[in-house]
Amino acid sequence: MGFEIRKIGVIGAGQMGKGIAHVCALAGYDVALNDISQERIDAGIADVAAQMRRAVERGQIDAAAVEPALERISGAPAMADFADADLLIEAATEVEDLKRKILTELTQFVKPGAIISSNTSSISITRLAAVTGRPERFIGIHFMNPVPRMQLVELIRGIATDDVTFEETKAFVVKLGKTISVSEDFPAFIVNRILLPMINEAIYTLYEGVGSVDAIDTAMKLCLSVMQVLHEGLADSKYRPCPLLVKYVEAGWLGKKTQRGFYDYRSGTPVPTR
Ligand SMILES: NC(=O)c1ccc[n+]([C@@H]2O[C@H](COP(=O)([O-])OP(=O)(O)OC[C@H]3O[C@@H](n4cnc5c(N)ncnc54)[C@H](O)[C@@H]3O)[C@@H](O)[C@H]2O)c1
Repeated sequence: MGFEIRKIGVIGAGQMGKGIAHVCALAGYDVALNDISQERIDAGIADVAAQMRRAVERGQIDAAAVEPALERISGAPAMADFADADLLIEAATEVEDLKRKILTELTQFVKPGAIISSNTSSISITRLAAVTGRPERFIGIHFMNPVPRMQLVELIRGIATDDVTFEETKAFVVKLGKTISVSEDFPAFIVNRILLPMINEAIYTLYEGVGSVDAIDTAMKLCLSVMQVLHEGLADSKYRPCPLLVKYVEAGWLGKKTQRGFYDYRSGTPVPTR
């Protein structure tokens, strides 16, 4: 029988670590949660319990699932507590030196076959993998915030990540009920590469007094025509509408409403057009 993931070690009981512990425990995995102090670990577990109860109130999870899930979560104040973990997910503060230090230490305590991963939003998976001594068993698992409610998970292979690690990690994410998007190991991967410059520009727009929050929100619902106005009005090449977008619009490929865009919807099953 192949390698089976049963126990997850989560490093960092902050916003993301708590969310990861929450979804893993509900999916039936044992979870060991680590942070810099027993107080933070205890507070993290208490927050997960509160989050689950809120999810019950909102009708998102079954009340009967909460107690068994909480019983599966334990505190792991020392790295040695991860000795029997099958998959480690590093979700500590986004500082590369700190992550390297954690991963270097972690590697000494986990079993040889365990998969080690990071939830980093932007740091190179290949660089992080290099300090573990098992780069083929290292992968990026990028959950979105808030983890219990966000469907998407980006998987990022480092240069050395092997196929078995990738497939086993994929199966784990599927078992959590999430949808996978595979990204190459480029800074900030796919979602944040696209989203953050857009959010930043939206904040500049507000900062410069171009419009109110409401107005900016409404404007964002358009695309090519707004890009053209920006390009003509501000004469900055960064606003040049992507030629591919222009081509699609000229072809009348406007997406769902015209049955064709980046996907072809005509057969009922969306088929990518590139
Ligand atoms: N918040 C988001 O929207 C989001 C989304 C996706 C990915 N991420 C990534 O997830 C990771 C965690 O982000 P967050 O928002 O949960 O941050 P956070 O500040 O809420 O939590 C970080 C936690 O890491 C702990 N920590 C710091 N040093 C540690 C150490 N040496 N050992 C163990 N724990 C340590 C801190 O005490 C804190 O509890 C980052 O890499 C971040 O880029 C965040």
